[in-house]
Amino acid sequence: MATSTQPAPSAGTIRRHVVWNASIVALGGLLFGYDTGVISGALLFIGKDFTGMSSTEKELLTSILLIGAVIGALFAGRVADRIGRRPTVLVTAAIFVVGVLLAAFSPSYGVLLVARVVIGVAVGSSSMVVPLYIGETAPPRIRGALVSFNQLAITSGILVSYLVDYGLASSQNWRLMFGLATIPAALLFVGMLFQRESPHWLIAQGREDEARAVLVRIRDSSDIDAEITEVREMSSRTSSARELLDPKIRHALTIGIALAIFQQITGINTIIYYAPTLLSNAGFGDSAALLANVVNGGVNVAMTIVAILLLDRVGRRPLLLTGTSGMAVGMVVLALTFLVGGSNLHGAYAYVAIAGLLIYTGSFAIGLGPVFWLLISEIYPIKIRGQAMSVATIANWGANFVVTVSFLTLLGALGDAGTFFLFAVLTLVALVYFYRQVPETKNRTLPEIEHDLGLPHGAMSDTDHPAKA
Ligand code: BGC
Repeated sequence: MATSTQPAPSAGTIRRHVVWNASIVALGGLLFGYDTGVISGALLFIGKDFTGMSSTEKELLTSILLIGAVIGALFAGRVADRIGRRPTVLVTAAIFVVGVLLAAFSPSYGVLLVARVVIGVAVGSSSMVVPLYIGETAPPRIRGALVSFNQLAITSGILVSYLVDYGLASSQNWRLMFGLATIPAALLFVGMLFQRESPHWLIAQGREDEARAVLVRIRDSSDIDAEITEVREMSSRTSSARELLDPKIRHALTIGIALAIFQQITGINTIIYYAPTLLSNAGFGDSAALLANVVNGGVNVAMTIVAILLLDRVGRRPLLLTGTSGMAVGMVVLALTFLVGGSNLHGAYAYVAIAGLLIYTGSFAIGLGPVFWLLISEIYPIKIRGQAMSVATIANWGANFVVTVSFLTLLGALGDAGTFFLFAVLTLVALVYFYRQVPETKNRTLPEIEHDLGLPHGAMSDTDHPAKA
């Protein structure tokens, strides 16, 4: 066990250590992105092995992962609160390996469907436990950046999956497209074996000596005692899952659920999952559509890096509000292009449509993409953090499922322009909500945030919300 007799690590060593830790755990995010993205290309070739697959069966294969994710998110919180964050990541990595291998070797459509559910369970679990773990181990000053490594990994996973799909298209090897995810899944498992448990979870369990042994490696020694005291106090204050219904906690819970639902109903995955379909329907050639998709994926990654650099400097709220405004602009540009240019876009209209797409995705990546996952790792009390994050994560995957399965029907009913106008309106509603309700958490410790949100009228609602100031 590390004790005060050991020399304290330098600031540089601490930083390298926490960045390395966060990068290992964020492999869970890479798998989240890869497994949700890979299906778009794989779908083109699965039908060749399992002949007679209807388009409904293909849609089911795509969306059933989201059902699995809801199930994964449902259990992961309780498991993470009970057995700890680290074992939960290990179990998740093992489920990833099983699901991915099952998909790669599936002898029938039915088995492939089961494999997608299994992968979904791991995706759902990983989507909540990764930000949870990183949030609790990160020093407050760089917590925004570190937790958002997860979003960077998600977007990188999506981009890598597009590139793999593209690279393997000529061999039509959909099994390898799925199977390649075994590599990050195995790395996550092995990497996690060398990680320590979250210090906050250990404190909440009364295992302060172990927590201290972890904290001496990842904190300035002068911060450790205060952190242990704060977390201990907070964990004795809240006691059970019933507290989820406590009015003070309900406030934080509502913010998390609203962020979750808004993140999805403002349309991100209609773009992530369907952009090539949309573009080729709009008259782009197949390879132009795929290329535009890769560029869009690249912008998603690049702007997430910008967000990581800014989150701990300018704060969560400015990025969320600017990003959400940009998303509305992107959607309006898309809607107007289809309204004026018709459903078959030529010449300048095609470029303007792509510009709209990139503005939208880039704005999502700088705000609502990372900020949702970051805030739900910050705003809940330690004792029920896992379960509360589960609730927000379930809402996110549930809303994702609803939007994904209804999108093509929506397009049929409202047309391209109508659908994108609808998303623009929903984005504006989200913007107003964020402006009025979402707290700033930059530079606050998790216990401080917990304290602020638990005050009768919310300290932050008086000081940080311009609307109420
Ligand atoms: C969302 C996913 C989305 C991804 C795109 C994540 O924050 O939760 O649904 O596919 O961002 O970058």
